[in-house]
Amino acid sequence: MAQVRMRNAKGANASEIEKKIKRGNALRQSSAWHSSRLLLALLLVTAFVCGASLWLYLASADGDITETLVRHGELVSPQPRVYTVPCSEDYDQHKRFPGCTPQKCGRAVTDGVVTREEAQVLRRLAERGLALAGSEGGASILDLHSGALSMGKQFVNIYRYFGDQIDKVFTQEDFQLYRDVRRRIQETIAHTFALDVNVLFLTKPTFFSRINSTEAKTQHDEYWHPHIDKVTYGSFDYTSLLYLTDYGSDFTGGRFIFMDQDGNRTVEPRAGRLSFFSSGSENLHRVERVTWGTRYAITVSFTCDPAHSIIDPSLPAP
Ligand SMILES: *[C@@H]1O[C@H](CO)[C@@H](O)[C@H](O)[C@H]1NC(C)=O
Ligand SMILES: *[C@@H]1O[C@H](CO)[C@@H](O)[C@H](O)[C@H]1NC(C)=O
Repeated sequence: MAQVRMRNAKGANASEIEKKIKRGNALRQSSAWHSSRLLLALLLVTAFVCGASLWLYLASADGDITETLVRHGELVSPQPRVYTVPCSEDYDQHKRFPGCTPQKCGRAVTDGVVTREEAQVLRRLAERGLALAGSEGGASILDLHSGALSMGKQFVNIYRYFGDQIDKVFTQEDFQLYRDVRRRIQETIAHTFALDVNVLFLTKPTFFSRINSTEAKTQHDEYWHPHIDKVTYGSFDYTSLLYLTDYGSDFTGGRFIFMDQDGNRTVEPRAGRLSFFSSGSENLHRVERVTWGTRYAITVSFTCDPAHSIIDPSLPAP
């Protein structure tokens, strides 16, 4: 009896329990469904908030940038990427030199002329030279041709100031590489703009620059103003920039910006990247302020006027 009652009770209980379990499962299932829906909604909201703030951040940082011509991570090689723009009238105010004076104007970028290893050697050269002095503000230059080196609020001549000691700072190999890179840049410009390489000349100033975020102390430190090279230096016909550090990892800010009527177009520096352009008003430009880190580059300038040509630097023979 007891046995049967128990079984019955058990039976009744079992079905009750079974029902409860089913109900429980159903509840759990629906609550699991509810919570996964909640999670999804949360994820969507989070993604939206992140996306919106990223967009706002980029929009505020990139406010004036309409187009990026070449990103840091891209590799433009072996052929330069060329953007043609109509020539300005600036060249008419100067004597014209056949085979050289710009008839085709524009800008170009290539990562195929100087290797990253070579850029690193040149960067070390710049580091060693600039370590001898440097500007008090955020922008220092070293010009191996004239010897000019930023020091405090002015410049010194490294060859005069350091005399014989200079061959403890630079090696013959450093200078050899510098000259070789200069020659390759000249050939690339001549080839791209269909010029006679023999009537294109190196001109001044041609120099290394080191820029960080320290505030400017003199006008020489204010590198970010828009300018036209042909107006600033009448002798310029083609300007080139060889970057020695990487935008994004070595420094932030510091992008090169072509300021066109219809928008601002930027080139993101990359170690070994060469950017060059005709120097007239068709290439009004500026450098964005560096916000973090150190940006190294070389400005290598060319003229069509032999009267303004300068020679390659060399160290005194050992
Ligand atoms: C920028 O460079 C100068 C000169 O080397 C240095 O004194 C200064 O601390 C640097 N500033 C920053 C923010 O790194
Ligand atoms: C380009 O940038 C400058 C500031 O650097 C800004 O004043 C100008 O409006 C921008 N140009 C265009 C067309 O967006």
